[in-house]
Amino acid sequence: MSSLLVDGIGELVTNEPGGESGPLGIRRDVALLVEDGRVAWVGPSRDAPAADRRLDAQGAAVLPGFVDSHAHLVFAGDRAAEFAARMAGQPYTGGGIRTTVGATRAAGDDELRATVRRLRDEALRQGTTTMEIKSGYGLTVTDEARSLRIAAEVSEETTFLGAHVVPAEYADRPDDYVGLVCGPMLAAAAPHARWIDVFCERGAFDVDHARAILACGQAVGLGVRVHANQLGPGPGVQLGVELGAASVDHCTHLTDADVDALASSRYDCMCADSLHTTTVATLLPGAEFSTRSPYPDARRLLDAGVTVALATDCNPGSSYTSSMPFCVALAVREMRMTPAEAVWAATAGGARALRRDDIGRLGVGARADLIVLDAPSHLHLAYRPGVPLIRQVLRNGVLQ
Ligand code: NIG
Ligand code: FE
Repeated sequence: MSSLLVDGIGELVTNEPGGESGPLGIRRDVALLVEDGRVAWVGPSRDAPAADRRLDAQGAAVLPGFVDSHAHLVFAGDRAAEFAARMAGQPYTGGGIRTTVGATRAAGDDELRATVRRLRDEALRQGTTTMEIKSGYGLTVTDEARSLRIAAEVSEETTFLGAHVVPAEYADRPDDYVGLVCGPMLAAAAPHARWIDVFCERGAFDVDHARAILACGQAVGLGVRVHANQLGPGPGVQLGVELGAASVDHCTHLTDADVDALASSRYDCMCADSLHTTTVATLLPGAEFSTRSPYPDARRLLDAGVTVALATDCNPGSSYTSSMPFCVALAVREMRMTPAEAVWAATAGGARALRRDDIGRLGVGARADLIVLDAPSHLHLAYRPGVPLIRQVLRNGVLQ
């Protein structure tokens, strides 16, 4: 059993009860012991136990690794020209998804695998130690199954998104496509997936189709997440709450009834700040940035008591960024989150959106997924946007 002592920590963000800055649970003058990939001890530096190795943080801030709970990494090609057209005034409609579906179907496994790994590594260098990965650019039984198989090679958090859009060959018979998704496609996908997701939006899947697909996934043991209320108001958020979804994602256009529905899923989770919502609102500011859309109002959700997560939505269409620090900075500047709220949402919030209690925090028993910043405080993540502030990353206690 090998041990590693992390000391010289300027500020330790634990996301555990006690400590400063509310739910961030900041502690100072502490050291952290890693044994067998887990946090084995956190306590005053002067009491630090002996260890086989030592990592001196040299006064820097140490945080839990980012938990990116929403990403679409299995695709081929890019849509830079579509981005340029948007910046010249074209709206984003989601129609470009079919372009990526064509490129993805035509790609070999190795090409898809290389893209997934390149983006996963890019994210890791920016402090992401857990990344959810969705399918959704295959939209045939074989292409969805292989997308998930490739995703599962690098992440345990994989999501079946066969209901991303209705593919062109089913354009005039969407009911048949829903039958395919719920039948053979789900059967082929489920062994490689933990979650099921539907893009519930005008132009994608209506609420009845979305409910039917999510219920089929639940029936075979998949957890529910929903792409909801991205392009306009709609039924997705309330459908997610109705089905007990772990997360509803985007939440750009919310009515008071949507916020009330999310807030009503509050329960006492006996954790740091004790009240959370069963359904997390996962906000994806990279998508609003890249589609030049109004940002979701995180303040309204937080003030209503809704648990908020931040994620990248990394995909070639609406948000081609793998950077959680960028999302934290956007959330603070554009969505009225405090730096502490944004850092919590990008770590513990993502963990809650994935129903995980072993990540997104640095307390005894948690996975030793942590980042050492090139800065003395978590505040610098939003204060110094665009600057590479991730100095070191440990995943399962191993320096990456
Ligand atoms: O989350 N909105 C649906 N899906 C993705 C975008 C996919 C694409 O444009 O390729 C999203 O934004
Ligand atoms: Fe998405």
